[in-house]
Amino acid sequence: MVNVAVLVSGGGTNLQALIDAKAAGSLPNAKLALVIASKPGVYALECAKAANISSEVVCRKDFDSQEAFDSAMLETLRRYDIGAVVLAGYLSIVGAPVVAAYPDKIINIHPSLIPSFCGAGYYGLRVHEAALKKGVKVTGATVHLVNEQYDDGRILLQKAVSVEEGDTPETLQKRVMKEAEWVILPKALDMITRGE
Ligand code: GAR
Repeated sequence: MVNVAVLVSGGGTNLQALIDAKAAGSLPNAKLALVIASKPGVYALECAKAANISSEVVCRKDFDSQEAFDSAMLETLRRYDIGAVVLAGYLSIVGAPVVAAYPDKIINIHPSLIPSFCGAGYYGLRVHEAALKKGVKVTGATVHLVNEQYDDGRILLQKAVSVEEGDTPETLQKRVMKEAEWVILPKALDMITRGE
């Protein structure tokens, strides 16, 4: 069994999808051992609590440098004997020492078909605003391995979602979450905890 940490910054719907997948028996090799929030008060911490998962807050603002933040993050991951990490709507940067400590064991969910609408500044609703502005007819979500650059590591899974007439960023975000993100994120976690 691999102890998994889920890093969150917001609503926690992808965390909830992992909790539901675990309850349904779809993550046989993963134990959801820890949720780390990038700031206090985020709703994802409530999801963790309701599912009886330990949680910690490791906030970039509490540290003078990226190095000190990375050390605190690594210390927290080691304290819980974590073997794989999921970035589930996590908006801080995971530094090089953390990436180096978990080769091919950190995954990120991004709400577009990479390489479209990704990189610095593309997160959350902004991704869907950009997709609608461009007028794409198909968008989707991507799970990729994490390296030191934004949205850049090897792609593990993608799923396409149609853009519909009259979509707003909010309606498109909801469809991408429901039809793609909440489906491929648990699948990708299963893959990396099986060592595929
Ligand atoms: C999700 O749509 C996720 O793909 C996106 O933030 C949202 C978090 O929602 N992540 C990024 O944009 C990363 N670049 P959640 O907190 O409800 O899972």
